[in-house]
Amino acid sequence: MIKQDRILAIDQGTTSTRSIVFDMNGQEISVARQEFPQYYPQLGWVEHDPEDIWRDAKTTAQEAVERSGGVDRIAAIGITNQRETIVVWDRKTGKAIHNAIVWQDRRTAALCAELKKQGKEELVASRTGLLLDPYFTATKLAWILDNVEGARARAEKGELACGTIDCFLLWRLTDGKVHATDVTNASRTLLFDIHRQQWDDELLALFNIPAALLPEVKDSSGVFGESTPDLFGRAVPIAGIAGDQQAAVVGQTCFKPGMAKATYGTGCFVLLNTGEKPVISQNRMLTTIAYRVKGKTAYALEGSIFVAGAAIKWLRDGLHLITHASQTDDMATRIPHSHGVYMVPGFVGLGAPHWDPNARGLICGLTLDATEAHIARAALESVAYQTLDLVAAMTQDGGGTADTLRIDGGMAANDWFCQFLSDMLQAKVERPKQIETTALGAAFLAGVGVGLWNDLEEVASEWQRGALFEPQMEASIRKGMIDGWHVAVRRTLSQV
Ligand code: G3P
Repeated sequence: MIKQDRILAIDQGTTSTRSIVFDMNGQEISVARQEFPQYYPQLGWVEHDPEDIWRDAKTTAQEAVERSGGVDRIAAIGITNQRETIVVWDRKTGKAIHNAIVWQDRRTAALCAELKKQGKEELVASRTGLLLDPYFTATKLAWILDNVEGARARAEKGELACGTIDCFLLWRLTDGKVHATDVTNASRTLLFDIHRQQWDDELLALFNIPAALLPEVKDSSGVFGESTPDLFGRAVPIAGIAGDQQAAVVGQTCFKPGMAKATYGTGCFVLLNTGEKPVISQNRMLTTIAYRVKGKTAYALEGSIFVAGAAIKWLRDGLHLITHASQTDDMATRIPHSHGVYMVPGFVGLGAPHWDPNARGLICGLTLDATEAHIARAALESVAYQTLDLVAAMTQDGGGTADTLRIDGGMAANDWFCQFLSDMLQAKVERPKQIETTALGAAFLAGVGVGLWNDLEEVASEWQRGALFEPQMEASIRKGMIDGWHVAVRRTLSQV
Protein backbone atom coordinates (compact mmCIF):
# COMPACT_ATOMS: atom_id res chain seq x y z
CA MET A 1 0.00 0.00 0.00
CA ILE A 2 1.25 3.50 -0.87
CA LYS A 3 2.10 5.63 2.15
CA GLN A 4 -0.01 8.74 2.50
CA ASP A 5 2.61 11.24 3.64
CA ARG A 6 1.87 14.41 1.68
CA ILE A 7 -0.50 17.28 2.27
CA LEU A 8 -2.24 19.61 -0.15
CA ALA A 9 -2.56 23.19 1.07
CA ILE A 10 -4.92 25.61 -0.67
CA ASP A 11 -3.93 29.23 0.06
CA GLN A 12 -6.67 31.55 -1.17
CA GLY A 13 -5.20 35.08 -0.91
CA THR A 14 -6.45 38.56 -1.81
CA THR A 15 -4.97 38.68 -5.29
CA SER A 16 -4.06 35.08 -6.08
CA THR A 17 -4.78 31.48 -5.19
CA ARG A 18 -1.96 29.01 -4.63
CA SER A 19 -2.11 25.29 -4.11
CA ILE A 20 0.98 23.53 -2.83
CA VAL A 21 1.72 19.89 -2.07
CA PHE A 22 4.16 19.49 0.86
CA ASP A 23 6.00 16.47 2.15
CA MET A 24 6.45 15.82 5.86
CA ASN A 25 9.70 17.80 6.00
CA GLY A 26 7.80 20.88 4.92
CA GLN A 27 9.38 20.69 1.45
CA GLU A 28 7.36 21.87 -1.52
CA ILE A 29 6.71 19.02 -3.97
CA SER A 30 4.57 20.93 -6.44
CA VAL A 31 2.76 24.21 -6.78
CA ALA A 32 0.14 25.84 -8.99
CA ARG A 33 -0.98 29.45 -8.74
CA GLN A 34 -3.44 31.78 -10.39
CA GLU A 35 -4.10 35.52 -10.11
CA PHE A 36 -7.73 36.57 -10.31
CA PRO A 37 -9.66 39.78 -11.07
CA GLN A 38 -10.35 42.48 -8.50
CA TYR A 39 -13.53 44.52 -8.85
CA TYR A 40 -13.73 48.14 -7.68
CA PRO A 41 -17.39 49.09 -8.30
CA GLN A 42 -16.99 52.41 -6.46
CA LEU A 43 -14.22 54.36 -4.78
CA GLY A 44 -13.11 52.40 -1.72
CA TRP A 45 -15.16 49.30 -2.61
CA VAL A 46 -13.39 45.99 -3.33
CA GLU A 47 -15.15 42.81 -4.48
CA HIS A 48 -14.28 39.31 -5.67
CA ASP A 49 -16.39 36.96 -7.74
CA PRO A 50 -16.82 33.79 -5.61
CA GLU A 51 -16.94 31.72 -8.82
CA ASP A 52 -13.42 32.96 -9.71
CA ILE A 53 -12.28 31.96 -6.25
CA TRP A 54 -13.80 28.49 -6.46
CA ARG A 55 -12.60 27.88 -10.03
CA ASP A 56 -9.00 28.82 -9.15
CA ALA A 57 -8.99 26.88 -5.88
CA LYS A 58 -10.23 23.80 -7.70
CA THR A 59 -7.99 23.99 -10.75
CA THR A 60 -4.80 24.95 -8.88
CA ALA A 61 -5.46 22.16 -6.35
CA GLN A 62 -6.00 19.63 -9.14
CA GLU A 63 -2.87 20.85 -10.97
CA ALA A 64 -0.69 20.73 -7.85
CA VAL A 65 -1.88 17.20 -7.03
CA GLU A 66 -1.31 16.10 -10.62
CA ARG A 67 2.20 17.62 -10.69
CA SER A 68 3.09 15.94 -7.40
CA GLY A 69 2.49 12.56 -9.01
CA GLY A 70 -1.20 12.07 -8.22
CA VAL A 71 -3.56 11.78 -5.29
CA ASP A 72 -2.32 8.44 -3.92
CA ARG A 73 0.11 9.98 -1.42
CA ILE A 74 -2.14 12.88 -0.37
CA ALA A 75 -3.21 12.32 3.24
CA ALA A 76 -5.18 15.53 3.80
CA ILE A 77 -6.12 18.97 2.58
CA GLY A 78 -5.49 22.19 4.51
CA ILE A 79 -7.20 25.49 3.67
CA THR A 80 -5.93 28.96 4.47
CA ASN A 81 -7.49 32.16 3.25
CA GLN A 82 -7.72 35.93 3.07
CA ARG A 83 -9.64 36.73 6.22
CA GLU A 84 -12.76 38.83 6.91
CA THR A 85 -13.92 38.68 3.27
CA ILE A 86 -17.52 37.43 3.24
CA VAL A 87 -19.71 35.41 0.87
CA VAL A 88 -23.46 34.79 1.19
CA TRP A 89 -24.89 31.93 -0.83
CA ASP A 90 -28.05 29.99 -1.45
CA ARG A 91 -28.03 26.74 0.52
CA LYS A 92 -29.90 24.91 -2.27
CA THR A 93 -27.90 25.95 -5.31
CA GLY A 94 -24.59 26.86 -3.63
CA LYS A 95 -24.58 30.07 -5.73
CA ALA A 96 -23.54 33.35 -4.13
CA ILE A 97 -26.20 36.07 -4.02
CA HIS A 98 -23.64 38.88 -4.34
CA ASN A 99 -19.93 39.23 -4.99
CA ALA A 100 -17.72 38.61 -1.97
CA ILE A 101 -17.04 41.88 -0.13
CA VAL A 102 -13.31 41.99 0.49
CA TRP A 103 -11.54 42.89 3.74
CA GLN A 104 -10.10 46.03 2.10
CA ASP A 105 -13.57 47.37 1.28
CA ARG A 106 -14.48 50.61 3.10
CA ARG A 107 -18.17 50.90 2.14
CA THR A 108 -19.35 50.48 5.72
CA ALA A 109 -17.12 53.19 7.20
CA ALA A 110 -20.14 55.41 7.97
CA LEU A 111 -22.00 52.60 9.76
CA CYS A 112 -18.91 51.85 11.85
CA ALA A 113 -18.55 55.53 12.73
CA GLU A 114 -22.23 55.67 13.72
CA LEU A 115 -21.92 52.62 15.99
CA LYS A 116 -18.82 54.13 17.55
CA LYS A 117 -20.76 57.31 18.21
CA GLN A 118 -23.41 55.26 19.96
CA GLY A 119 -20.66 54.00 22.28
CA LYS A 120 -20.72 50.39 21.04
CA GLU A 121 -16.99 49.94 20.56
CA GLU A 122 -16.37 48.84 24.12
CA LEU A 123 -18.86 45.98 23.91
CA VAL A 124 -17.47 44.87 20.56
CA ALA A 125 -13.84 45.06 21.71
CA SER A 126 -14.43 43.25 24.98
CA ARG A 127 -16.14 40.31 23.27
CA THR A 128 -14.22 40.05 20.00
CA GLY A 129 -10.82 41.63 20.67
CA LEU A 130 -11.43 43.75 17.53
CA LEU A 131 -12.50 47.35 16.86
CA LEU A 132 -15.33 48.99 14.97
CA ASP A 133 -13.68 49.28 11.57
CA PRO A 134 -15.06 48.40 8.13
CA TYR A 135 -12.11 45.99 7.80
CA PHE A 136 -14.02 43.30 9.71
CA THR A 137 -16.87 41.15 8.46
CA ALA A 138 -20.08 41.99 10.32
CA THR A 139 -20.94 45.31 8.69
CA LYS A 140 -20.14 43.92 5.23
CA LEU A 141 -22.48 41.01 5.86
CA ALA A 142 -25.23 43.38 7.01
CA TRP A 143 -24.67 45.43 3.86
CA ILE A 144 -25.33 42.39 1.64
CA LEU A 145 -28.49 41.53 3.57
CA ASP A 146 -29.75 45.10 3.26
CA ASN A 147 -28.84 45.65 -0.37
CA VAL A 148 -29.66 42.41 -2.16
CA GLU A 149 -33.39 42.22 -2.72
CA GLY A 150 -35.11 39.72 -0.45
CA ALA A 151 -31.84 38.61 1.17
CA ARG A 152 -32.72 39.46 4.75
CA ALA A 153 -36.04 37.62 4.66
CA ARG A 154 -34.43 34.59 3.02
CA ALA A 155 -31.61 34.64 5.58
CA GLU A 156 -34.14 34.63 8.41
CA LYS A 157 -35.92 31.64 6.85
CA GLY A 158 -32.63 29.72 6.79
CA GLU A 159 -32.42 29.62 2.99
CA LEU A 160 -29.03 31.32 2.86
CA ALA A 161 -25.63 30.53 4.32
CA CYS A 162 -22.70 32.83 4.91
CA GLY A 163 -19.04 32.27 5.45
CA THR A 164 -15.53 33.57 5.13
CA ILE A 165 -13.60 32.21 2.16
CA ASP A 166 -12.44 29.02 3.95
CA CYS A 167 -16.05 28.21 4.75
CA PHE A 168 -17.22 28.82 1.18
CA LEU A 169 -14.42 26.61 -0.19
CA LEU A 170 -15.20 23.88 2.34
CA TRP A 171 -18.85 23.98 1.26
CA ARG A 172 -17.86 23.65 -2.40
CA LEU A 173 -15.19 20.98 -1.79
CA THR A 174 -17.72 18.85 0.09
CA ASP A 175 -20.52 19.66 -2.37
CA GLY A 176 -22.61 21.42 0.27
CA LYS A 177 -22.30 18.72 2.92
CA VAL A 178 -20.34 20.79 5.42
CA HIS A 179 -21.03 24.34 6.59
CA ALA A 180 -18.24 25.06 9.04
CA THR A 181 -15.32 27.35 9.73
CA ASP A 182 -12.48 27.39 12.23
CA VAL A 183 -12.04 29.62 15.29
CA THR A 184 -9.38 31.82 13.70
CA ASN A 185 -11.67 32.83 10.87
CA ALA A 186 -14.67 33.20 13.18
CA SER A 187 -12.57 35.44 15.42
CA ARG A 188 -12.35 38.07 12.62
CA THR A 189 -16.07 38.54 12.03
CA LEU A 190 -17.03 40.88 14.95
CA LEU A 191 -19.72 38.32 15.78
CA PHE A 192 -17.68 35.78 17.74
CA ASP A 193 -16.89 35.91 21.44
CA ILE A 194 -13.22 34.92 21.59
CA HIS A 195 -13.42 34.17 25.33
CA ARG A 196 -16.44 31.85 25.36
CA GLN A 197 -15.63 30.84 21.79
CA GLN A 198 -19.11 30.99 20.37
CA TRP A 199 -21.26 33.26 18.22
CA ASP A 200 -22.50 36.09 20.41
CA ASP A 201 -26.25 36.82 20.47
CA GLU A 202 -25.81 40.42 21.57
CA LEU A 203 -23.42 41.12 18.71
CA LEU A 204 -25.70 39.36 16.23
CA ALA A 205 -28.47 41.70 17.41
CA LEU A 206 -26.20 44.76 17.24
CA PHE A 207 -25.24 44.09 13.61
CA ASN A 208 -28.67 42.68 12.77
CA ILE A 209 -27.40 39.29 11.56
CA PRO A 210 -29.73 36.25 11.64
CA ALA A 211 -28.05 33.29 13.40
CA ALA A 212 -29.47 30.93 10.75
CA LEU A 213 -26.80 32.17 8.33
CA LEU A 214 -23.82 31.14 10.40
CA PRO A 215 -21.50 28.14 10.12
CA GLU A 216 -20.46 25.78 12.89
CA VAL A 217 -17.13 26.80 14.46
CA LYS A 218 -14.45 24.14 15.02
CA ASP A 219 -10.81 23.66 16.01
CA SER A 220 -8.26 24.73 13.39
CA SER A 221 -7.04 21.15 13.16
CA GLY A 222 -9.22 18.04 12.76
CA VAL A 223 -11.37 16.54 10.04
CA PHE A 224 -14.01 19.00 8.79
CA GLY A 225 -15.26 16.75 6.00
CA GLU A 226 -14.11 15.02 2.80
CA SER A 227 -13.69 16.38 -0.69
CA THR A 228 -16.09 14.88 -3.22
CA PRO A 229 -14.42 11.95 -5.03
CA ASP A 230 -14.78 13.53 -8.48
CA LEU A 231 -12.36 16.36 -7.59
CA PHE A 232 -9.18 14.30 -7.16
CA GLY A 233 -10.25 10.75 -8.01
CA ARG A 234 -10.96 9.84 -4.40
CA ALA A 235 -12.27 11.54 -1.27
CA VAL A 236 -9.57 13.36 0.73
CA PRO A 237 -10.15 14.62 4.28
CA ILE A 238 -10.07 18.38 4.77
CA ALA A 239 -8.31 18.42 8.11
CA GLY A 240 -6.95 21.90 8.76
CA ILE A 241 -8.31 25.44 8.36
CA ALA A 242 -6.93 28.79 9.49
CA GLY A 243 -7.02 32.40 8.33
CA ASP A 244 -3.84 33.17 6.42
CA GLN A 245 -2.15 35.24 9.14
CA GLN A 246 -2.84 32.63 11.78
CA ALA A 247 -1.68 29.88 9.41
CA ALA A 248 1.58 31.82 9.04
CA VAL A 249 1.99 31.73 12.84
CA VAL A 250 1.74 27.95 12.60
CA GLY A 251 3.97 27.77 9.51
CA GLN A 252 6.60 29.86 11.33
CA THR A 253 6.12 27.53 14.34
CA CYS A 254 5.63 30.51 16.69
CA PHE A 255 4.16 28.22 19.33
CA LYS A 256 5.68 29.77 22.44
CA PRO A 257 4.39 32.95 24.08
CA GLY A 258 6.63 35.84 23.02
CA MET A 259 7.31 34.47 19.54
CA ALA A 260 6.21 36.76 16.71
CA LYS A 261 5.90 36.70 12.94
CA ALA A 262 5.25 39.29 10.26
CA THR A 263 3.81 38.30 6.90
CA TYR A 264 4.29 40.68 3.99
CA GLY A 265 1.55 40.08 1.45
CA THR A 266 -0.86 42.69 0.13
CA GLY A 267 -0.80 44.06 3.66
CA CYS A 268 1.42 43.20 6.61
CA PHE A 269 0.22 41.43 9.68
CA VAL A 270 2.32 41.04 12.80
CA LEU A 271 1.10 38.40 15.24
CA LEU A 272 2.65 37.88 18.65
CA ASN A 273 1.77 34.65 20.42
CA THR A 274 0.55 35.52 23.94
CA GLY A 275 -0.26 31.95 25.02
CA GLU A 276 -3.43 30.68 26.65
CA LYS A 277 -4.57 34.06 27.94
CA PRO A 278 -5.80 36.83 25.66
CA VAL A 279 -3.91 40.11 26.19
CA ILE A 280 -6.11 43.18 25.83
CA SER A 281 -4.34 46.01 24.08
CA GLN A 282 -4.18 49.58 25.34
CA ASN A 283 -2.74 50.64 21.99
CA ARG A 284 -5.44 49.64 19.54
CA MET A 285 -3.84 46.34 18.63
CA LEU A 286 -6.23 43.44 18.07
CA THR A 287 -6.63 40.42 20.28
CA THR A 288 -7.27 37.37 18.18
CA ILE A 289 -7.18 33.58 18.22
CA ALA A 290 -3.89 32.28 16.82
CA TYR A 291 -5.09 28.67 16.62
CA ARG A 292 -7.05 26.06 18.53
CA VAL A 293 -5.71 22.55 18.32
CA LYS A 294 -7.18 19.63 20.27
CA GLY A 295 -9.34 22.09 22.17
CA LYS A 296 -6.36 24.15 23.34
CA THR A 297 -6.42 27.81 22.34
CA ALA A 298 -3.44 30.07 21.76
CA TYR A 299 -4.18 33.79 21.55
CA ALA A 300 -2.23 36.49 19.76
CA LEU A 301 -1.90 40.23 19.68
CA GLU A 302 -2.18 41.39 16.11
CA GLY A 303 -1.14 44.54 14.33
CA SER A 304 -2.61 44.93 10.85
CA ILE A 305 -1.20 47.21 8.16
CA PHE A 306 -3.36 47.32 5.06
CA VAL A 307 -0.69 48.24 2.52
CA ALA A 308 2.71 46.55 2.35
CA GLY A 309 3.31 44.60 -0.89
CA ALA A 310 0.46 46.65 -2.36
CA ALA A 311 2.72 49.74 -2.17
CA ILE A 312 5.30 47.94 -4.31
CA LYS A 313 2.54 46.82 -6.67
CA TRP A 314 1.52 50.48 -6.92
CA LEU A 315 5.09 51.46 -7.88
CA ARG A 316 4.75 48.91 -10.68
CA ASP A 317 1.15 49.29 -11.85
CA GLY A 318 0.24 52.82 -10.74
CA LEU A 319 3.49 54.76 -11.22
CA HIS A 320 5.20 52.40 -13.72
CA LEU A 321 8.48 53.03 -11.88
CA ILE A 322 9.45 49.36 -11.96
CA THR A 323 8.48 46.32 -13.99
CA HIS A 324 9.21 43.77 -11.26
CA ALA A 325 9.08 44.01 -7.46
CA SER A 326 12.61 42.61 -7.14
CA GLN A 327 14.03 45.81 -8.75
CA THR A 328 13.30 47.74 -5.56
CA ASP A 329 16.14 45.88 -3.82
CA ASP A 330 18.72 47.33 -6.30
CA MET A 331 17.12 50.76 -6.33
CA ALA A 332 17.23 51.06 -2.53
CA THR A 333 20.84 49.86 -2.42
CA ARG A 334 21.89 52.31 -5.16
CA ILE A 335 21.32 55.42 -3.00
CA PRO A 336 23.15 56.01 0.30
CA HIS A 337 20.10 57.28 2.20
CA SER A 338 16.48 58.20 1.75
CA HIS A 339 17.25 61.94 1.59
CA GLY A 340 14.28 62.81 3.79
CA VAL A 341 11.76 61.37 1.33
CA TYR A 342 8.90 59.52 3.04
CA MET A 343 5.93 57.63 1.72
CA VAL A 344 2.93 56.95 3.95
CA PRO A 345 0.95 54.31 2.05
CA GLY A 346 -2.51 55.19 3.38
CA PHE A 347 -4.15 54.18 0.09
CA VAL A 348 -7.07 52.50 1.88
CA GLY A 349 -6.85 54.46 5.12
CA LEU A 350 -4.49 53.42 7.89
CA GLY A 351 -4.81 50.32 10.04
CA ALA A 352 -3.17 49.77 13.43
CA PRO A 353 -2.42 51.67 15.54
CA HIS A 354 -4.28 54.62 13.90
CA TRP A 355 -7.42 52.93 12.53
CA ASP A 356 -8.25 55.89 10.35
CA PRO A 357 -10.31 54.75 7.34
CA ASN A 358 -10.26 58.30 5.95
CA ALA A 359 -6.49 58.80 6.01
CA ARG A 360 -4.94 58.89 2.54
CA GLY A 361 -1.47 58.25 1.09
CA LEU A 362 1.35 60.77 0.95
CA ILE A 363 4.85 61.22 -0.46
CA CYS A 364 6.74 64.08 1.14
CA GLY A 365 10.21 65.56 1.53
CA LEU A 366 10.79 65.80 -2.23
CA THR A 367 13.63 67.96 -3.53
CA LEU A 368 14.82 68.39 -7.13
CA ASP A 369 17.49 65.75 -6.74
CA ALA A 370 15.01 63.09 -5.59
CA THR A 371 14.77 60.23 -8.09
CA GLU A 372 12.60 57.20 -8.67
CA ALA A 373 15.05 55.30 -6.42
CA HIS A 374 14.15 57.56 -3.49
CA ILE A 375 10.47 56.88 -4.00
CA ALA A 376 11.02 53.13 -4.28
CA ARG A 377 13.16 53.20 -1.16
CA ALA A 378 10.58 55.29 0.69
CA ALA A 379 7.95 52.66 -0.16
CA LEU A 380 10.12 49.87 1.29
CA GLU A 381 11.01 51.94 4.32
CA SER A 382 7.36 52.76 5.01
CA VAL A 383 6.60 49.09 5.49
CA ALA A 384 9.46 48.72 7.97
CA TYR A 385 8.41 51.84 9.89
CA GLN A 386 4.86 50.58 10.13
CA THR A 387 6.10 47.22 11.41
CA LEU A 388 8.13 49.08 14.02
CA ASP A 389 5.03 51.01 15.16
CA LEU A 390 3.17 47.72 15.62
CA VAL A 391 5.95 45.97 17.49
CA ALA A 392 6.43 49.00 19.76
CA ALA A 393 2.71 49.04 20.58
CA MET A 394 2.68 45.32 21.36
CA THR A 395 5.68 45.66 23.61
CA GLN A 396 3.90 48.46 25.49
CA ASP A 397 0.87 46.20 25.81
CA GLY A 398 2.99 43.74 27.73
CA GLY A 399 2.50 41.02 25.14
CA GLY A 400 6.16 40.13 25.67
CA THR A 401 9.09 41.56 23.78
CA ALA A 402 10.03 39.65 20.72
CA ASP A 403 13.80 39.94 20.34
CA THR A 404 13.41 38.09 17.06
CA LEU A 405 10.83 38.59 14.36
CA ARG A 406 10.23 35.77 11.88
CA ILE A 407 9.18 37.14 8.52
CA ASP A 408 7.65 35.71 5.37
CA GLY A 409 5.68 36.68 2.27
CA GLY A 410 6.85 38.41 -0.91
CA MET A 411 8.80 41.31 0.61
CA ALA A 412 10.77 38.95 2.84
CA ALA A 413 12.72 37.97 -0.29
CA ASN A 414 14.16 41.52 -0.44
CA ASP A 415 17.46 41.50 1.48
CA TRP A 416 17.71 45.28 1.66
CA PHE A 417 14.27 45.45 3.24
CA CYS A 418 15.10 42.70 5.76
CA GLN A 419 18.26 44.52 6.88
CA PHE A 420 16.44 47.85 7.16
CA LEU A 421 13.67 46.18 9.14
CA SER A 422 16.20 44.70 11.56
CA ASP A 423 17.82 48.14 11.94
CA MET A 424 14.50 49.82 12.67
CA LEU A 425 13.31 47.13 15.10
CA GLN A 426 16.68 46.80 16.80
CA ALA A 427 15.91 43.10 16.73
CA LYS A 428 16.94 40.01 14.83
CA VAL A 429 14.94 39.27 11.71
CA GLU A 430 14.76 35.64 10.67
CA ARG A 431 13.67 34.43 7.27
CA PRO A 432 12.76 30.75 6.98
CA LYS A 433 13.93 28.46 4.18
CA GLN A 434 10.33 27.80 3.22
CA ILE A 435 8.96 31.25 2.47
CA GLU A 436 5.41 30.01 1.64
CA THR A 437 4.78 29.89 5.36
CA THR A 438 1.05 30.48 5.14
CA ALA A 439 0.40 27.41 3.02
CA LEU A 440 2.85 25.43 5.14
CA GLY A 441 0.89 26.35 8.27
CA ALA A 442 -2.33 25.04 6.72
CA ALA A 443 -0.47 21.85 5.80
CA PHE A 444 0.82 21.45 9.37
CA LEU A 445 -2.69 21.90 10.78
CA ALA A 446 -4.11 19.35 8.34
CA GLY A 447 -1.23 16.97 9.08
CA VAL A 448 -1.93 17.13 12.80
CA GLY A 449 -5.63 16.76 11.98
CA VAL A 450 -5.08 13.34 10.39
CA GLY A 451 -2.35 12.24 12.80
CA LEU A 452 0.74 12.63 10.56
CA TRP A 453 2.15 14.55 13.51
CA ASN A 454 0.84 14.04 17.03
CA ASP A 455 0.81 17.70 17.99
CA LEU A 456 2.28 21.12 17.24
CA GLU A 457 5.38 20.46 19.38
CA GLU A 458 6.32 17.74 16.95
CA VAL A 459 5.80 20.15 14.05
CA ALA A 460 8.12 22.78 15.60
CA SER A 461 11.23 20.81 14.63
CA GLU A 462 10.33 21.20 10.93
CA TRP A 463 11.14 24.95 10.90
CA GLN A 464 14.42 25.81 9.18
CA ARG A 465 16.15 29.17 9.07
CA GLY A 466 17.09 30.50 5.63
CA ALA A 467 18.68 33.85 6.59
CA LEU A 468 19.35 36.00 9.65
CA PHE A 469 19.59 39.81 9.74
CA GLU A 470 20.95 41.68 12.75
CA PRO A 471 20.82 45.40 13.57
CA GLN A 472 23.74 47.49 12.31
CA MET A 473 22.53 51.08 12.10
CA GLU A 474 23.90 53.81 14.33
CA ALA A 475 21.37 54.85 17.00
CA SER A 476 21.30 58.59 16.18
CA ILE A 477 20.68 57.99 12.46
CA ARG A 478 17.92 55.54 13.30
CA LYS A 479 16.23 57.97 15.64
CA GLY A 480 16.28 60.80 13.09
CA MET A 481 14.69 58.58 10.46
CA ILE A 482 11.95 57.36 12.79
CA ASP A 483 11.13 60.89 13.97
CA GLY A 484 10.74 61.96 10.34
CA TRP A 485 8.38 59.06 9.73
CA HIS A 486 6.11 60.04 12.60
CA VAL A 487 5.89 63.62 11.32
CA ALA A 488 4.89 62.28 7.88
CA VAL A 489 2.22 59.96 9.36
CA ARG A 490 0.62 62.79 11.30
CA ARG A 491 0.15 64.68 8.04
CA THR A 492 -1.98 61.87 6.58
CA LEU A 493 -4.43 61.41 9.43
CA SER A 494 -7.93 62.75 8.84
CA GLN A 495 -8.47 64.33 12.26
CA VAL A 496 -5.35 66.32 13.06
O1 G3P B 1 -6.85 40.21 7.04
C1 G3P B 1 -6.58 40.18 5.67
C2 G3P B 1 -5.52 39.17 5.36
O2 G3P B 1 -5.93 37.92 5.77
C3 G3P B 1 -5.14 39.23 3.88
O3 G3P B 1 -3.95 38.60 3.66
O4 G3P B 1 -2.05 37.74 2.37
O5 G3P B 1 -4.12 38.24 1.18
O6 G3P B 1 -2.68 40.08 2.13
P1 G3P B 1 -3.17 38.69 2.23
